[in-house]
Amino acid sequence: MTRSIILGVGSGAPQRVVTNRELEALTDTTDEWITQRTGIRERRFSEAGQKWSDFMLPACRAALDMAGVAPEEIGLIIVGTLSADMIMPSGACTLQWHLGANRAAAFDIAAACSGFIYGLTIADRFIRLDPSLKVLVAGGELISQRIDWSDRTTAVIFGDGGGAAVVAGTQDTDRGILASRISSDGSLWGLLHIPGGGTASPASPNYRKSDYAIHMRGNELFKMAVKSMEDACHEVLEEANVRPEQVDLVIPHQANLRIIQVLAERLGVAMERVFLNIERYGNTSAGTIPLALDEAVRGGRVKRGDLLLLPVFGGGLTWGATLLRW
Ligand code: ACO
Repeated sequence: MTRSIILGVGSGAPQRVVTNRELEALTDTTDEWITQRTGIRERRFSEAGQKWSDFMLPACRAALDMAGVAPEEIGLIIVGTLSADMIMPSGACTLQWHLGANRAAAFDIAAACSGFIYGLTIADRFIRLDPSLKVLVAGGELISQRIDWSDRTTAVIFGDGGGAAVVAGTQDTDRGILASRISSDGSLWGLLHIPGGGTASPASPNYRKSDYAIHMRGNELFKMAVKSMEDACHEVLEEANVRPEQVDLVIPHQANLRIIQVLAERLGVAMERVFLNIERYGNTSAGTIPLALDEAVRGGRVKRGDLLLLPVFGGGLTWGATLLRW
């Protein structure tokens, strides 16, 4: 039986660190409020002129290096992002060109924060059909350009960054992706959206900057985030016949520390078994899970044979979870 295994991971983020204190100059907020309500202490912001691919390319190269896979061996590149260098071509095609992955088909997924888990799930299905396929899955955002500083509740949670994973087939049935689920509810789009720039509200010289910013109804999303991630976790655990207490490490979407704490409590998983880096990066949308996975692996928090649970939630609305044995 073929399973999909992660051979290598990598991550990247702009150099510029922006602390909560610095945000006090940009919007009506305090370091104390942000830390207490979100768990975020700092995030990374790109400088003017920096592009999404500037930090996504190093992330992909690091994942290929760890995997020991050459770019020409990659047959498919799947990228979760809303902030590629251009609307067209896709971010995946931009990465393909720069990496020299000249045998790969490449496309993006518009699933907001859930993009990486959507990509991993699609990669898993492709690999089961063609076990020789090697897939580069990436997720990340340059989201600092989409912040409306007059909306302080939304503005303080986001940051730039992302990561990547090289996924391939294995016949070693003990390891790899055991179950992966993705779901959506388009009727709830209004809880989290970017109104301007699409065909409903095309780019126009009369537009305000806020029309291109993320609009979020945080309170309502909070409840949906907990419930949908909890449901997705139970679905994958049940499918793989695994109990929550058997999971070694949960690497959740880093949207808000309080969401993660409530989710862990509902799953019955102690916070010591939850990986967190939200305090240093904030919410990087599709970037949070690959960025956290990379830090967990390189930091020695993940050992061979560990069971990892990766729940996610984002705009669309979209959500899902992947359960894998490292
Ligand atoms: N600084 C200081 N005070 C603030 C700030 C701020 N930045 N923002 C809000 N407040 C105030 C409010 O005005 C309110 O004051 P009041 O009680 O006097 O009226 C009080 O703080 C509480 O406001 P809430 O909106 O209830 O704050 P909440 O505790 O819900 O936290 C937050 C807001 C952090 C946004 C939270 O709701 C959240 O994390 N929601 C989910 C976010 C999420 O998961 N997004 C989806 C993923 S992102 C993606 O897909 C791209």
